Amino acid sequence: MKSLKNRPIGIFDSGLGGLTVVKSIRQCLPSEDIVYYGDTARVPYGNKSRTTIVRFAHEIMAFMMKARVKMVVVACNTASSLSLRSLKKTYPIPVIGVISPGVREALSVSKNKRIGIIGTKSTINSKSYEKEILKLGGKACRFFSKSCPLFVPLVENKFLNNKITYDVAQHYLGEFKSRDIDTLILGCTHYPILKQVIKKVMGNINLVDSSFVVSKEVQMLLDKKDLTRFSKKTQGTLKIFVSDDVEGFRSAAGIFLKEKIMVKKVVL
Ligand code: DGL
Repeated sequence: MKSLKNRPIGIFDSGLGGLTVVKSIRQCLPSEDIVYYGDTARVPYGNKSRTTIVRFAHEIMAFMMKARVKMVVVACNTASSLSLRSLKKTYPIPVIGVISPGVREALSVSKNKRIGIIGTKSTINSKSYEKEILKLGGKACRFFSKSCPLFVPLVENKFLNNKITYDVAQHYLGEFKSRDIDTLILGCTHYPILKQVIKKVMGNINLVDSSFVVSKEVQMLLDKKDLTRFSKKTQGTLKIFVSDDVEGFRSAAGIFLKEKIMVKKVVL
């Protein structure tokens, strides 16, 4: 039986977006094996109810437990917002989400503590980011949030840096300009891909993309629990599972991760 240290890290998202976290963890912790689940048959999560998201997340966790992972990263902002507490209570392994790391990063880079948050409808309605800002930054922090539901389909259809995307960004983000925010949390896996357009609209402010900070958090947690896999020679393996369309995912993920990957379909 594999020792606990040699077990993989589980990472899941509603689809492809969580691969930003995979990429970052592979750079930061190259010896670690990774099992990724992208719930492509049921994406998007961002407009679904809490009950549904919690059910999906538990189904994926059951899959992760069978895969004998040593910890799980919920790379999806919507699933982190709505299901993290329930997952943490239920499973005997560490489960971390992307909300706290994103907030910690925002608080560390913001000078005036006026922070904007953008995310899916379900993430924004859950107020997960606001609660975490108040918890970690205190009452003196000011936050302004907005859901941007058209951003995900724009990214999925590769409308990345053109006039339509700029107009949509202007429509959503225009109101932030009068708020004097110096930091904007990109609270959805897809939004970092629109960084260029968001920068054009918002000018010179800090854009927080949590994937890098999350990998640092994973590293710290594994060290603390003595779960880090040390191997100077071997590159960790990456196994990807999806609930739909293996070929589409393989080609998109291969381009993004710049490596040949194995993708299998598993319907939960
Ligand atoms: N992964 C989701 C998130 O980060 C975005 C895509 C979706 O709506 O499922 O909130």
